[in-house]
Amino acid sequence: MSNLSGKHVLLIVSGGIAAYKTLDLVRRLRERGANVTAVLTKAAKQFVTPLSIASLSGRKVYDDLFSLTDETEMGHIQLSRGSDLVLVAPATADLMARAANGLADDLASTLLLATDKAPIFVPAMNVRMWTHPATQRNMSALRAAGCAILGPADGEMACGEFGPGRMIEPLDVIAGLEGLIAARSDASPAKPLAGRRAIVTAGPTREPIDPVRYISNKSSGKQGYAIASALAAAGAETVLVSGPVDLRPPAGVTVKPVESAVEMLDAVRAALPADIFVAAAAVADWRAKTAGLQKTKKGPDGPPTIELVENPDILATVSQMRTGRPTLVIGFAAETENLIANAQAKLARKQCDIIVANDVGAEQAIFGGDLNRVVVIDKGGAAEAWPQANKADVATRIAALVATRLDDKA
Ligand code: PMT
Repeated sequence: MSNLSGKHVLLIVSGGIAAYKTLDLVRRLRERGANVTAVLTKAAKQFVTPLSIASLSGRKVYDDLFSLTDETEMGHIQLSRGSDLVLVAPATADLMARAANGLADDLASTLLLATDKAPIFVPAMNVRMWTHPATQRNMSALRAAGCAILGPADGEMACGEFGPGRMIEPLDVIAGLEGLIAARSDASPAKPLAGRRAIVTAGPTREPIDPVRYISNKSSGKQGYAIASALAAAGAETVLVSGPVDLRPPAGVTVKPVESAVEMLDAVRAALPADIFVAAAAVADWRAKTAGLQKTKKGPDGPPTIELVENPDILATVSQMRTGRPTLVIGFAAETENLIANAQAKLARKQCDIIVANDVGAEQAIFGGDLNRVVVIDKGGAAEAWPQANKADVATRIAALVATRLDDKA
């Protein structure tokens, strides 16, 4: 279960094109059981409407410092104090500047000044505005005041420029909030995996055909990254061996980027020993026997024939280590048919302790999607179907299962 469950989030939305992401953010927060009360600045209302936010949050949206009705229903002091988290998303350069300098000339800035919580800012602005010394100064002042800053991300902006300044995606905001809650809470849950070491593989591998072409697959790395994050949050020292993906490194995790299956196996070997090994990567089963040194040209003989050879099986290699085998080895099975039977056969062939089976048929959208539906199969034969859930929640549950299994073996 997410540590956002039951939390009261005061969400301040300031005016930028990234405000559209707030709609999804509200949905994600509510999915995790958080209560969301939103405040919109005047500029935010140019991008999202109070009605759309209220429909998603199920609560009244506030926007006016001097509303007599609002003040009688819930004064702005109560609004700012009655929440567990104060989140500003997107946070414009202007609102951060006003917060850093203690201005209170509208409802949003007044709440930021009146709150007794350290606000969390999710910046979104043009790259030059972000890198401007004034913004960076304000950022340092906010950090020094105990505020957290999540993001921004690097990439192409709505204005056509490229660089840091994009608002991070709602799920990254959620992951950041969950990390902050765990870190901030005095009563933060015990770390059941403290003192343990984990290695996780994630993402696809890329097997070169020539300098510009490769064999790969659709894995985004989301499931593996979420597992590494959950294991780290549970206290494990975690190494994430990652194929090429477009994801931010999870907090507290050491990421070893690799391209091919052979590199992935080398990186896993280098990261051993470990207590826990989770193979969530979609490793290419085959690679080209010889990768061309130059770009393959079209010729009169028609398309080239690419001879394939089998890649090393990383999961089977680790599972079958005679010495230094991790105490718990968990594989995944990505199947498009006969889910349980094929997964059971894989578990037996590779000799892991648990296999997490997921149906990756086209209509399931597991590759690249945010949700997963898995069946967890134990080497003793027990199979448990988990309900469809966010990949982060599946990961949290896997981390809890890891902790229980390691306790059982102790
Ligand atoms: O990355 P996402 O977009 O979030 O999608 C998640 C996922 C679908 C990739 C993930 O949930 C998943 O199922 N990962 C395993 C994908 C896979 O390649 O499955 P497989 O059934 O082909 O392989 C079985 C197991 O052997 C896996 O643990 C795999 O990591 C491992 N393997 C496979 C081949 C190989 N050469 N080396 C391996 O270690």
